[in-house]
Amino acid sequence: MGAKPRSLSGIKPTGTPHLGNYLGMIKPAIQMQQTHETFYFIADYHALTSTHDPNQLRENAYDLTAIFAALGMDFENHAFFRQSDIPEVTELTWILSCITPKGLMERAHAFKDAISKKQEVNMGLFSYPVLMACDILIYDSNFVPVGQDQRQHLEITRDLAIRFNHLFGEAFVIPEAIIQKDVATIPGLDGRKMSKSYGNVVPLMAPEKQFRKAIMKITTDSKTVEEPKDPDTCNVFALYKCFSTETDQKELASRYRAGGMGYGEAKQLCFEALNAELREPRENYQNIRKDLPQLDGILESGRDKARAIAMQVTERVRAKVGL
Ligand code: TRP
Repeated sequence: MGAKPRSLSGIKPTGTPHLGNYLGMIKPAIQMQQTHETFYFIADYHALTSTHDPNQLRENAYDLTAIFAALGMDFENHAFFRQSDIPEVTELTWILSCITPKGLMERAHAFKDAISKKQEVNMGLFSYPVLMACDILIYDSNFVPVGQDQRQHLEITRDLAIRFNHLFGEAFVIPEAIIQKDVATIPGLDGRKMSKSYGNVVPLMAPEKQFRKAIMKITTDSKTVEEPKDPDTCNVFALYKCFSTETDQKELASRYRAGGMGYGEAKQLCFEALNAELREPRENYQNIRKDLPQLDGILESGRDKARAIAMQVTERVRAKVGL
């Protein structure tokens, strides 16, 4: 550890992680282990802004840990932990809150959305971006792989870090977002973006049967088998692309254009490609998920690595502000 740039990301334990989460964040995050020192955490403090079910929160945290384990995260050389196991994050959040303009929070998308939907806004939701900035800054993170929807949060993080450094002197590393462009919009079952709020998601560790059924339900146009089809506007093809090599993509694209292939067959190929990638992790998941001592061990070792750094950075910040 140490020589490689540090990549950090968080995932909220609200609901079942789905295929969109996998392609947008989890898969690239796991791949980054080869080139980065990675720190990934379960954003349970953030989840509290919207969930009030303690059992569900605990179970979801274990689900996520088991998912990362099943997908082959290397816990020896990287850190996977619970946000709430690092209490320094909340201390830093207070300190950073004191230099955060209220207007900046009022311009944040999540807050504006809640207001426009006339939802009740708690202070946790209002200051969500400050907590997120601290998640990132407290580990001297260099890179943050996130979905497109988190772009604004990363901009806020950079703004706050620059502002702090300017006011008190260099304390924070300025992080960079890594946004997965190609897979930023994963079609859900109805062709809209896959999202928990649309109820169109495919759970990542769902049994094979459920995956097949979900893929068979993807919306397409009503062209007959004989008609030539356009791969670039097809939801099935968009999903296939996420699980196949370029050569396979080219081949399927030309079959689309040639005509003579129905959407049913394309869906079958899509299912097979997806299943080839997820079959083994799904089996691993079933075993690991039952093994709570193993999951606790993973979270404890992650906590120890993360906390060592969080304590150093918090000390640095305390000194700068005069605490
Ligand atoms: N807000 C992110 C989401 O909803 C989760 C998150 C919390 C996060 N803290 C983070 C992501 C820090 C990256 C870095 O998906």
